[in-house]
Amino acid sequence: MDLGIEDIDDNESSFCSLWSRTHRKINCVELFSNPNLGDDYFFNRLNVKADCNNISDTLNFIKSNYSYDLKTYYIHLICNNEKPVTKLNIPKFGTMKIMSLDVNKYVLNGSRHVEIKVVDKVRLNDWIDVYCRSFDSLEIKNEVTTIISQHYKKLSLLIAYYCKDEIRYPAGCCLLFEKNERIGLYCLGTTYQFRKKGVARELISNAQKITSNSGYDSIILQTLTKERYEEFYKRLGFKTIYKKMLYTFYLN
Ligand SMILES: CC(C)(COP(=O)(O)OP(=O)(O)OC[C@H]1O[C@@H](n2cnc3c(N)ncnc32)[C@H](O)[C@@H]1OP(=O)(O)O)[C@@H](O)C(=O)NCCC(=O)NCCS
Repeated sequence: MDLGIEDIDDNESSFCSLWSRTHRKINCVELFSNPNLGDDYFFNRLNVKADCNNISDTLNFIKSNYSYDLKTYYIHLICNNEKPVTKLNIPKFGTMKIMSLDVNKYVLNGSRHVEIKVVDKVRLNDWIDVYCRSFDSLEIKNEVTTIISQHYKKLSLLIAYYCKDEIRYPAGCCLLFEKNERIGLYCLGTTYQFRKKGVARELISNAQKITSNSGYDSIILQTLTKERYEEFYKRLGFKTIYKKMLYTFYLN
């Protein structure tokens, strides 16, 4: 069965490139780097091909030329049920699962307290603020503002408001990114005080409607298993389609 892994992975890479200050292909490695986003396994990464020769030479070259102010790059290596040919003698960081939701099959019932809006230019700052608070990363807010302001036309940004006592509190966010006839859901987050109240469920439900109305059959997302959200996604109907092994490549 053709799972379309190449196209799905290219959606993820293209999305990452929007967040990069440096994006280069170096032999069989695709480098994404943005020191202003800090130590981030998703954005400061090296995508390594599964059949890469002389990987240590390429990694040494990257260490010498592309370290910037980073301490670490995270190597992403696709595992499609076969053992990757590329051998890496560096520490494993974790497993990332790429999951898919059949948008025509699952109907999610949301919460009546949660209202979802598609973000226009006027609400960009609300989205950025909720994103940074949900991911506990207010220190990178300036950089997120630069990235989102520059690229918002390529993204469908959704914001969730939690409605309580006639007040609407910004409570959650996500975005959709289309590329290669695939649609990826990224940046799903709920602020601490509104977690486990159906905010993310309602965001996914709306993302599902938008995806289906745009003629797509599925939504793709990535989750790192050690963050323990796999069960959460499974309960919403997502299924794993392939995995990636992540490795920590220390730069000093
Ligand atoms: C993951 C996250 C978005 C979930 O948001 P949320 O608004 O609390 O989720 P919901 O309330 O919509 O949860 C929907 C269902 O999943 C359950 N659930 C929520 N978090 C869960 C978790 N960590 N593990 C298992 N189930 C979970 C809820 O109890 C609920 O189940 P129910 O309908 O039976 O009550 C939130 O925990 C978060 O922002 N985390 C930090 C950012 C992040 O890492 N995002 C994910 C990137 S892959």
